[in-house]
Amino acid sequence: MKRVALTGIKPSGTPHVGNYLGMYKPALDLTGEYDAYYFIADEHALTSVRDPNELRQLSYEAAASWLALGLDPEKVLIYRQSDIPEIFELAWILSCVTPKGLLNRAHAYKAAVDENEAAGRPPDDGLSMGLYNYPVLMAADILIVDANVVPVGVDQKQHVEIARDIAEAFNRAYGDVLVLPEPMTFSIVAGPDGRKMSKSYGNVIPIFAEPAEQRKLVMRIVTDSRRPEDPKDPSTDALFKIFEYFGGSSDVEDVRERYRAGGIGYGEVKEKLASALHERFAEPRTRYDELMSDRARLDEILADGARRARGVAAVTLGRVRRAVGL
Ligand code: ADP
Ligand code: TRP
Repeated sequence: MKRVALTGIKPSGTPHVGNYLGMYKPALDLTGEYDAYYFIADEHALTSVRDPNELRQLSYEAAASWLALGLDPEKVLIYRQSDIPEIFELAWILSCVTPKGLLNRAHAYKAAVDENEAAGRPPDDGLSMGLYNYPVLMAADILIVDANVVPVGVDQKQHVEIARDIAEAFNRAYGDVLVLPEPMTFSIVAGPDGRKMSKSYGNVIPIFAEPAEQRKLVMRIVTDSRRPEDPKDPSTDALFKIFEYFGGSSDVEDVRERYRAGGIGYGEVKEKLASALHERFAEPRTRYDELMSDRARLDEILADGARRARGVAAVTLGRVRRAVGL
């Protein structure tokens, strides 16, 4: 039997090049070797998205992104989290064996508390129980399909470790019921400003932006004031690093040399990056636009994925319910 890979993306913004390199691409590369479940974490997005129409739209965008980037719905189960109510029931059962201290230590919660304290506010000011319980719901996403590996950007590693800790706590209490998952992590891509490329920092290069818009964002990348003739270190330059992923290999080597020796300006690198991105994503963008204009087709694919994933989820939940005495 094949091992199981699962990952999710929160539909909370337009997918970007960091998501592509840190999650979509590595996850899609696994699909032949693993039974894959790649889903849209719309219930997780409720912690931040408050407009129902926006949430529906972002969920369609997330589904269209997976498909446009090459997910084959015959081979990979793609579904909305909210179409699998078994996940939600499992989350409650798991929360009853989850030590509260484990969640107190979760990075996202801790960062929000630190921010409040730094601003002189009460520690939990403005924080929802959804934010606090987020890792338990994520554990349920993972454990409900007996996932072995969870491909994610390294920023999500702690969440997967928490899922494993929760599975261990459950198994200690009830026997060998849940499969212990492992994170499979991919490095973080810096945004044009050198910080992690992230929706929350507003420094993203969107995958499916119109070419002119994408080019504009690339041209806006902040660089230092060194002149074209000055030598520059390619290994510390955020612009070069993004280009390195997308340029052709001989072009990348040429640019690397010219960084070291002096003789290339940032403007030229940006032009090269913009056209490399255009080349890489032109076809997916066309597919994306087609899918976004055919919601009925997306609904059909998601309903089929949900139906199949629910079959698996019901079996795991049945095992869990019997183990706890429900
Ligand atoms: P964001 O940080 O923009 O809100 P998400 O939290 O929705 O992105 O991330 C979705 C997936 O993409 C996760 O697996 C995450 O680890 C990965 N990811 C997000 N940003 C990056 C990045 N800059 N580099 C690599 N992977 C990333
Ligand atoms: N927390 C992940 C993120 O913010 C999204 C997510 C939800 C997820 N459930 C998951 C990722 C299960 C992997 C497995 O990006």
